[in-house]
Amino acid sequence: MSVIRLAAQVIPSAQREAIRTGIRRTQRSIRGFFLRFVVRNRFAAAAYYALGNHQLLREARAVAAGQLRYEADHRGASGSYYLLRRNIHRLEKGLIMRPRRPVFAADFIEETVQIFAHAMHVSGGEWNSELVWAEDVLSDYFDAVDVTVVKIASAYGRYLAIEKTTRAPVLQRAVPYKRDLSSPPPVSFEDFMALSRRRRSVRWYENRRVDRAAVSRALEAAAQSPSACNRQPFHFRIFDEPEMAQRVTAIAMGTKGFSQQVPAVAVVIGQLRAYPFERDRHIIYIDASLAAMSFMFALETMGLASCPINWPDQEPHETRIREAVPMDEDERVVMLIAFGWPDPAGKVPFSSKRSVTDMAVFNQHGRLLELPRD
Ligand SMILES: Cc1cc2nc3c(=O)[nH]c(=O)nc-3n(C[C@H](O)[C@H](O)[C@H](O)COP(=O)(O)O)c2cc1C
Repeated sequence: MSVIRLAAQVIPSAQREAIRTGIRRTQRSIRGFFLRFVVRNRFAAAAYYALGNHQLLREARAVAAGQLRYEADHRGASGSYYLLRRNIHRLEKGLIMRPRRPVFAADFIEETVQIFAHAMHVSGGEWNSELVWAEDVLSDYFDAVDVTVVKIASAYGRYLAIEKTTRAPVLQRAVPYKRDLSSPPPVSFEDFMALSRRRRSVRWYENRRVDRAAVSRALEAAAQSPSACNRQPFHFRIFDEPEMAQRVTAIAMGTKGFSQQVPAVAVVIGQLRAYPFERDRHIIYIDASLAAMSFMFALETMGLASCPINWPDQEPHETRIREAVPMDEDERVVMLIAFGWPDPAGKVPFSSKRSVTDMAVFNQHGRLLELPRD
């Protein structure tokens, strides 16, 4: 019999609890000691996370894998063009500038045309919405700028040489446009507020399948979300087979007691392959979460309900989800979203919300007005 088991039998339970509390307190103070050392300077932080605590390594590896994938995607035939999307977005921003400059984007137009040419080649002449967007914006760009400027002239020559198949005629070109503001917004604030109040994290669902068409519609709404430089670095892996959905949901930490009756779940994944720099590593979480919110609101408009589920960044959970849901090295789980038809008999927590005054402040600043404007 081990010493610990023997001690467990000999020591009364009240004292055992006191010992456990003491151990936890000691662990917390040791951790506190190290953390005070870590926050002192960046070398201490590097040493702590390299030698003592490896919890950040998963993210570091994924960021590195993302950078490698970013480079490979732009050389290879993957059909994934985050840089093209970003650059076309930057051209559109240049096109809507007021006043618009006669020369802009000179530093990256060559690169943009190169990726576009490559993308056209990989698609084998097949147009898709992204290529149409790139083509329309590039065409407007070269109409708008001074094509005699050296850097732009060579890109223009290259652009004209790209072989393109004929496109189906469209009603609206994929270029900057003025929104129709002649009628009021289609949703009133009152309606939106009512929808916001109606949406609650629902954990009890009817034993009823979710129509895939409804999920597709919610995804269409999610796709309309804003994202940094319009990169849209996320992917929704949907499980609408209840047996699968329940197994996937159970892998997360916060689903004990209700995962067994979740009819569908979305694993929201961020793709670090969208970025060549570490500085942008958090954007996947922001962009994916904005899309997730739209997804949940859209479900709500159709009478469906949802519950976002936290994803813990720790080894056992990572290992299990990657066994269950195939993922590349640069892909990170942002959250899970359980969804389905709400069980009318199931309650939701009251979940008190913060007041506006507690949540926000206006014009509170430091030396703001003394700083240079640019
Ligand atoms: C990122 C995130 C993670 C969450 N994780 C869980 C979870 O693991 N389990 C759970 O039951 N609810 C989870 N929730 C739901 C929250 O508990 C819920 O949003 C919060 O209590 C407010 O309630 P409401 O969504 O009904 O307004 C999560 C919500 C968010 C936004």
